[in-house]
Amino acid sequence: MIILVGYATVEGQTRKIADAVAAAIEKAGHRALLLDVTSGGEYAVAHPEAAILCAPVHAARYPAAFASFVGQEVSWLNSVPSAFVSVSLLIRSEFEEEQEEARQYPDALLAESGWRPGLVHHAAGALRYTEYDFFKRWIIRRMAEYENAPTDVSRDHEFTDWQALSAFVQAFLDEAKA
Ligand SMILES: Cc1cc2nc3c(=O)[nH]c(=O)nc-3n(C[C@H](O)[C@H](O)[C@H](O)COP(=O)(O)O)c2cc1C
Repeated sequence: MIILVGYATVEGQTRKIADAVAAAIEKAGHRALLLDVTSGGEYAVAHPEAAILCAPVHAARYPAAFASFVGQEVSWLNSVPSAFVSVSLLIRSEFEEEQEEARQYPDALLAESGWRPGLVHHAAGALRYTEYDFFKRWIIRRMAEYENAPTDVSRDHEFTDWQALSAFVQAFLDEAKA
């Protein structure tokens, strides 16, 4: 099976997640077509038969260019097995209400676009303090303090559960085959 792995990223963690999704697909003997959906690149010529899309949450929204891609491609997405990987920080929160908020992030995107992915996976992202500018670092550090997340801004902190991600890819492949 040829599977589109489409992603958008702001600071790079979702690209790393999409890379891992593509690697798991290839390891299972399928072909992954990795595409930054905000690049305007073409994918249809490769005739993918399924899709896994990955996007990060920034200020409670996915990148606008990612939402546009989903809106434009919704007919095709709904005609093949598809899944969505939502990348956020709140999903790793120790507070149940915040985890619940993170689980609801996809709702607006799916309602507005009409996309009906068969599976939705929530992956925790990363705090890339060393790459933020002063203002962003200050805001994210305040958010981290409130969240009991790491506040050591001298290094980056990654929370993605790579095993859970590859188990999700396997579940998607099993479902797509069925
Ligand atoms: C400016 C900014 C705003 C963010 N807003 C949210 C948010 O509203 N909810 C959340 O759960 N995570 C939020 N995050 C965390 C990101 O989802 C997380 O850092 C993710 O790894 C970013 O993925 P990317 O590197 O692919 O852009 C925010 C991060 C930044 C830098």
